Amino acid sequence: MRRPERLPSGALVASLLALGASPVAAFYFPGTAPTSYKQGDVVPLYVNHLTPADSQNDPKLRSVFSFDYYHPAFRFCQPEGGPKQVRESLGSILFGDRIQTSPFELLLGKNETCKALCEATYEPDDAQFVNTRIYQGYDLNWLIDGLPAAQLLKDPNTEQPFYSPGFALGEVDEDRPVFNNHYDIIIDYHEASANNYRVVGVLLDPFSLRDSRMEGNGQAVCGELNNPVVLNENQQNKVTFTYGVYWRLSPTPFATRWDKYLHQYDPKIHWFSLVNSAVIVVFLVAMVSTILVRTLKKDIARYNRLDQLGLDDFGENPDVEDGVAEDSGWKLVHGDVFRPPKNPLLLSVLVGNGAQLFAMTALTIAFALLGFLSPSNRGALGTVIIIFYTLFGFVGGYVSARTYKFFHGESWKLCFTVTPFALPGLVFATFFLLNLFVWGRGASGAVPFTTMLVVVIIWFVISVPLSIAGSWLGFKQAVIDPPVRTNQIPRQIPPAGGYLRPLPSMALAGVLPFGAIFVELYFIMNSIWFSKVYYMFGFLFLCFGLMIITSAAVTVLMIYFLLCAENYHWQWRSFFTAGASAAYVFASCLLYWVKDVSWTSWTSGVVYLGYSALLSSLVFVLTGTIGFCASWLFTMKIYRSIKVD
Ligand SMILES: *[C@@H]1O[C@H](CO)[C@@H](O)[C@H](O)[C@H]1NC(C)=O
Repeated sequence: MRRPERLPSGALVASLLALGASPVAAFYFPGTAPTSYKQGDVVPLYVNHLTPADSQNDPKLRSVFSFDYYHPAFRFCQPEGGPKQVRESLGSILFGDRIQTSPFELLLGKNETCKALCEATYEPDDAQFVNTRIYQGYDLNWLIDGLPAAQLLKDPNTEQPFYSPGFALGEVDEDRPVFNNHYDIIIDYHEASANNYRVVGVLLDPFSLRDSRMEGNGQAVCGELNNPVVLNENQQNKVTFTYGVYWRLSPTPFATRWDKYLHQYDPKIHWFSLVNSAVIVVFLVAMVSTILVRTLKKDIARYNRLDQLGLDDFGENPDVEDGVAEDSGWKLVHGDVFRPPKNPLLLSVLVGNGAQLFAMTALTIAFALLGFLSPSNRGALGTVIIIFYTLFGFVGGYVSARTYKFFHGESWKLCFTVTPFALPGLVFATFFLLNLFVWGRGASGAVPFTTMLVVVIIWFVISVPLSIAGSWLGFKQAVIDPPVRTNQIPRQIPPAGGYLRPLPSMALAGVLPFGAIFVELYFIMNSIWFSKVYYMFGFLFLCFGLMIITSAAVTVLMIYFLLCAENYHWQWRSFFTAGASAAYVFASCLLYWVKDVSWTSWTSGVVYLGYSALLSSLVFVLTGTIGFCASWLFTMKIYRSIKVD
């Protein structure tokens, strides 16, 4: 792993560096048990789905669909008796993996230069299908002993070679789609002890050899290099598939075999953005603490002194001094500030779901930071997300009920039932609708129906009861006591202008939490759409922390100004102020589309927009909840510190 060479000095940066670097070291912490092979043992090769990839010279996303390896139009060679599914974790399936057996025969230590696979015939339709996939830049994804077959690439900046998982189905050469039908599989293996070997690296070199042909006895003759296969879309094409195997002894031990796969393209970008957002956060926190400590202290002292003065010196006629003091400021709205907002049920449900999402995200990132979710544990990330989300249904229910009680809610049954269904329902509905499109395309990215069923059952049997139990517990707890009494009659709210109007305040405040996360977000989107492993959990952890602090700080600041302007509708406002960062997230998805995406099918566009909208709504609920909770704590605290008669 390469460290950035030049970094600004300072204690903050040093500690960030330590944190950011740690996930790399922590990767091997849990360690997957290694498989040992003897000379001549069969090492199975599994095939996974085909995914759209970014080529180095043209890093554009041309499709969002992935295809099953044994999609009939590809005509790839099948093992005897047909391919079999390899067992996978739930998370792995949900995140798109479709792993199956293959006809390749790899015997440890035995080199082969040209082994026959099979002969396939491409009808014009198939040829067209395959050529389109080549133009779209699809990659094959194979797995040997859990390691992805990779292409050897060089970092353009550092000239450092690294393994990039996946290899090309074909390439566009002089405007012709050249189809690869020969694979050189280069396997690095390490001798752990005498005659005890482990696979520590897999490279793949695909070739296109038109003159390859089968001999009678199951042997093959490989063709010349300068004669590539181009599938003709107007006639039948015969293609012979062959492969070679090369075993190279390697000094790399099993424990560090993932190192060369986990290459950071440009860690400087991460550091730059991190330092950037750290500066914003320090600035913001300084501002908020100035207000909290200085202004508030002064406010409170003034209010309380006047109170005393009023009572002691002026007896029952404190109007003179008090008139001046009470003319302005947040104290004036003490009789209204804890008046329940409009639609208290909806807000409670959102806050409950946000709390559940928050707990899940925080714990998942913490787990990842400890190295439990390394890419060597395929699908672990997805599985952990589902498990945590399911279990934290309890937290969601509890928070929702307590918030609702605080708002003097009456429709308890509705609160109990809507909470577990709101966000999961939205996610599931989006997922299901978009899957219909994917099914329609015959692509394999569609989650199998049985898997969906399993998810629904897990959610119904575990998450919903947990949520209801949480709601019940929250319902039984005493209502959270507001520090000031609420008046019978609501106060008039003076009209406010400028940045305190809803839209400007949201636009202004939302940009800051977004600023904390947008670089990591870009990398996450890249890894989602290009099916690359995401492993920068150290950075993600820091960004998540910065996002929480910025959301909370900027919302508290905004609510303080709002209350000073005698507007006491802080509940929804705080949710939307912080949640506005979701609008920026969606805008950045659109920008990503303009910049990095080029496709011709409208279904790709629909799927892309659908998932972007889903991602943005999750960010909305998450940041909104953070903003609301911070403001809640803030209002409770400041109104507790003043005396009101
Ligand atoms: C197999 O091929 C690799 C790579 O070319 C080479 O280093 C190795 O010595 C070969 N093994 C045998 C047994 O010939």
